[in-house]
Amino acid sequence: MSSKGLFQPIRIGNHDLKHRVVLAPLTRLRADPDTHVPNDKHVQYYGQRAGNGGGLLITEATNISPMAGRYPGSPGIWSKEQIEGWKKVTKAVHDRGSIIFLQLWHVGRATHAAWLPNNAQPVSASAISISGDDTFGLANEVPRALEIDEIQDLINDYVQAAKNGIEAGFDGVEIHGANGYIIDQFINSNTNQRTDRYGGSIENRARLALEITDAVVKAVGIDKTAIRLSPFSDFQDMYDETPNDTWGYLVQQLKANYPGLAYLHMVEPRFTFEDSAGSSEHNLDHFRNIWKSPFIIAGGFGHDVTGAVEHAEKTGDLIAFGRFFIANPDLPSRLQQKLPLNAYNRATFYGGGAEGYTDYPLYEEA
Ligand code: PHB
Repeated sequence: MSSKGLFQPIRIGNHDLKHRVVLAPLTRLRADPDTHVPNDKHVQYYGQRAGNGGGLLITEATNISPMAGRYPGSPGIWSKEQIEGWKKVTKAVHDRGSIIFLQLWHVGRATHAAWLPNNAQPVSASAISISGDDTFGLANEVPRALEIDEIQDLINDYVQAAKNGIEAGFDGVEIHGANGYIIDQFINSNTNQRTDRYGGSIENRARLALEITDAVVKAVGIDKTAIRLSPFSDFQDMYDETPNDTWGYLVQQLKANYPGLAYLHMVEPRFTFEDSAGSSEHNLDHFRNIWKSPFIIAGGFGHDVTGAVEHAEKTGDLIAFGRFFIANPDLPSRLQQKLPLNAYNRATFYGGGAEGYTDYPLYEEA
């Protein structure tokens, strides 16, 4: 067991990292709006954050298929052009000695017919919509419950996307099972009212996450597969009656069947999209204690860097930073040397060009 601490080495898959400061998956919406191909700006953005090497970057959530969501500017991993675009990104990261995992995304009900092929109705576990309007100001739509024989097609889309990711040079893939997207819509009790083998009991609601994990592991290897989960999250109306039992079962199954996954990534219950630090009576200790292997925790640490250092020393976790990694391309070395951080500008988080994307200065430049 390696020693604990943010600047202690750790092995992820077949890679030895020099530190445990991780680039969190962050939607930035700068890919081509029609083709969803990443471009030279992505190459620069991820390359900058590869720093002096030895780190782990996780990409922004990336559509596994044309049906997976297609927010304007989100990247994809289903077409040849997308794979070619990503190859330049992975090369830039590897040239600087870091590694990068691709986050595999299907948003389920969190999209609109207008964005989907042939104006298809969004799909989910059950025909239950998110309340109100989405972050684009559009009214959320009622999705269609996936037919049981469509579930295998969905799993196949994850497999193909994972293979495409490996072809594009990624060191692994992270299955996005968090934050109210399709896998999470199957897990949580309030969004899954199915009466087949994918609904009802905890075992049934966890089945899709486990089947996708199994299929991706078989396709690309266990050391190249990871998963992200968010127990206790209420983002996009998620609610589960028994979060400790639900995700406890899921993590136990992952531990029993896939203990060699590259990592397990969990979102802190206190996480919010607001600028102020959030709080929660819950934490992830129960799941970390079951998992015992590389564990990434994300959410709220940028507002509390001292707390992050202490947390990593206490638990051995890797810590994913979002907002402050956006604003500080050299975040790992700034944290290690206790240098001041650039402030972030929320107005340039989503969409647009280089401003707020690739123009944040290194410490020496500031
Ligand atoms: C977003 O696009 O706002 C987004 C994407 C993925 C997440 C959370 C939020 O996990």
